[in-house]
Amino acid sequence: MKQELQTATLRAIDTSVGVDQLLEIDKRATLMLGKVRDAMLAPHPAKDAPRFTTTTLSALCGIDRARLNYLIGKGDLPPGEAKGVGKSRTFSLTEARQWIRAESGLPFRPNGQSGVSIVAANFKGGSTKTTTVMTLAQGLTLRGHRVLVVDLDPQASLTSLCGLLPEKDVVEGDTVMPLISGEATDLGYAIRPTYWDGMDIIPSMPALFAAEFHIPSQVISRRNDPSWQFWNILGNGMKSIREAYDVIIFDTAPALSYLTINALMAGDGMIMPLPPRSLDYASSTQFWSLFSDLVENFRKQGFEKRFDFVSVLLSSVATDTSAPVVRDWIMDTYQQMVLPVEIPSTSVAGATSAQFGSVYDVTKWEGSQKTYQRARQAYDGFVDLINQKIAAKWAAGQEA
Ligand SMILES: Nc1ncnc2c1ncn2[C@@H]1O[C@H](COP(=O)(O)OP(=O)(O)O)[C@@H](O)[C@H]1O
Ligand SMILES: [Mg+2]
Repeated sequence: MKQELQTATLRAIDTSVGVDQLLEIDKRATLMLGKVRDAMLAPHPAKDAPRFTTTTLSALCGIDRARLNYLIGKGDLPPGEAKGVGKSRTFSLTEARQWIRAESGLPFRPNGQSGVSIVAANFKGGSTKTTTVMTLAQGLTLRGHRVLVVDLDPQASLTSLCGLLPEKDVVEGDTVMPLISGEATDLGYAIRPTYWDGMDIIPSMPALFAAEFHIPSQVISRRNDPSWQFWNILGNGMKSIREAYDVIIFDTAPALSYLTINALMAGDGMIMPLPPRSLDYASSTQFWSLFSDLVENFRKQGFEKRFDFVSVLLSSVATDTSAPVVRDWIMDTYQQMVLPVEIPSTSVAGATSAQFGSVYDVTKWEGSQKTYQRARQAYDGFVDLINQKIAAKWAAGQEA
């Protein structure tokens, strides 16, 4: 009797999920994401870049306050804005970048040199690829460069970080898809400005996943065309953007997908962000195993891949876990490729990401200054190291 009752109750509740329910979930999620985004961007309809104080600006230019004031007096550079007498001056990002280009003495792209492309890749989701791309892009604009970020992940987190809602603000034709399908031959069509001066984006959206079907189908249909290589579609579409930008950065999906392979082959440099946790380490080793097989195969077909640099970035490093042990494994495996800087696991990266931002979006950190400075210094150190590698590539190009 009891048994019968239970069976009857179980039958009464239908917990199965069919296509209609899945479509319903999608509708609710899209609606909710729209609300979440509007709430986070309130009271502004779009994202805003921070303003810079005289202290931050002199640090970014590497000059002291006296010289800054002298230059303001001289009037060649934008004077910023002081809201009222005795109020301190602030500068917009655009103004700050003019100052940096004029005063920092940092290396810039020499005439005739192409933009340097960098790809962030790792097998594992959550290994801080997107955060790394965003902070690197922002950091490089603060060193005077013009940067293009290319979102190749159909999940489009980078697109969201740049203030666009992939499902609402981006259609398939705005992504790299027209290049992939052969409709376009150069990526120039897809460039969009962002809220951040000096950083433009080629956005992504979920339909970019179709590239994973398009490319293999062309492998078959174009097998008699030796000029078409499935791993070089992206690389062949970069002519105009290599001219227009100093640095081009690809964000990739957590998989060795066709798009990721294209980005790896199009990258002059590669960065693998790697949190020192055992699962992330294990997945990084799988990545190298599959990727090296792949490039070996390409070599047999006459195409030899060479990176100008490969860097492993210890990222989201926690202080209280197995980090020291795993860090040893990482050092033993990746040796001199491991950058001599590490990004701490920090509420600054986490909390600001929830607001679609990064450490560089913070105008005034409400929490502990020590926490903010620690994160900021780590990211600055990382950006400086990559900036040196970019400059080294240009210098080598000048000598050649
Ligand atoms: N240094 C950090 N400390 C703590 N959390 C971080 C840090 N960097 C990134 N995160 C968070 O980790 C999560 C995954 O990062 P994300 O950049 O999206 O990784 P991926 O692109 O590899 O999937 C995000 O929620 C992000 O805010
Ligand atoms: Mg990502």
